[in-house]
Amino acid sequence: MYKVRKPKLSEVVQLKALIDHAVARGLVLPRTLEELYENVRDFYVYADEKGLAGCVSLHIDMEDLAEVRTLIVRDDLQRKGVGRILLQAVLSEARELGIPKVYVLTRCPEFFEKQGFVKTTLEQLPYKIRKDCARCPKYGVTCDEIPMTLQLNSYGNKKE
Ligand SMILES: CC(C)(COP(=O)(O)OP(=O)(O)OC[C@H]1O[C@@H](n2cnc3c(N)ncnc32)[C@H](O)[C@@H]1OP(=O)(O)O)[C@@H](O)C(=O)NCCC(=O)NCCS
Repeated sequence: MYKVRKPKLSEVVQLKALIDHAVARGLVLPRTLEELYENVRDFYVYADEKGLAGCVSLHIDMEDLAEVRTLIVRDDLQRKGVGRILLQAVLSEARELGIPKVYVLTRCPEFFEKQGFVKTTLEQLPYKIRKDCARCPKYGVTCDEIPMTLQLNSYGNKKE
């Protein structure tokens, strides 16, 4: 039985290949190898007999906010529940850390809606604008990423 776990450092090159494949189709933002090593502890992966088949990361912004990033499931495994269990892994860690709200910027809002996320506006995420968006050439012009948030006590009908 395969399961979601932390990546090993020896898997970071494979992790980059998984991300690069999604980057090439304009689905997620690129990550350099250096960034991946620096932030490897943010990640969870899902591996099967063919290698890494999925990944996700939880990036903490501040005391009460974290971003779900780089959620990817290998093409041949999509729509089999892997994305949901990867997401659950980072949400569970966010709860353990006491983070009340997470957000995502995504081109796949349908998936996140099914997991309880609701659409918001970038203006509701001023920290993200200051940190990343303000430096992005697409900000306010051609940005096609949809910001969404999830209050963790509402996830999966689980009350905390
Ligand atoms: C988005 C993604 C991670 C979803 O992973 P997945 O393993 O295919 O999703 P799951 O099988 O866990 O799906 C969970 C639910 O979401 C639905 N869903 C998944 N992808 C969907 C999509 N693109 N559109 C609508 N619904 C979708 C599933 O049908 C399922 O619904 P159900 O609970 O009613 O059966 C995957 O499609 C992917 O890697 N996409 C490319 C990269 C990407 O866009 N990542 C998001 C960047 S933040």
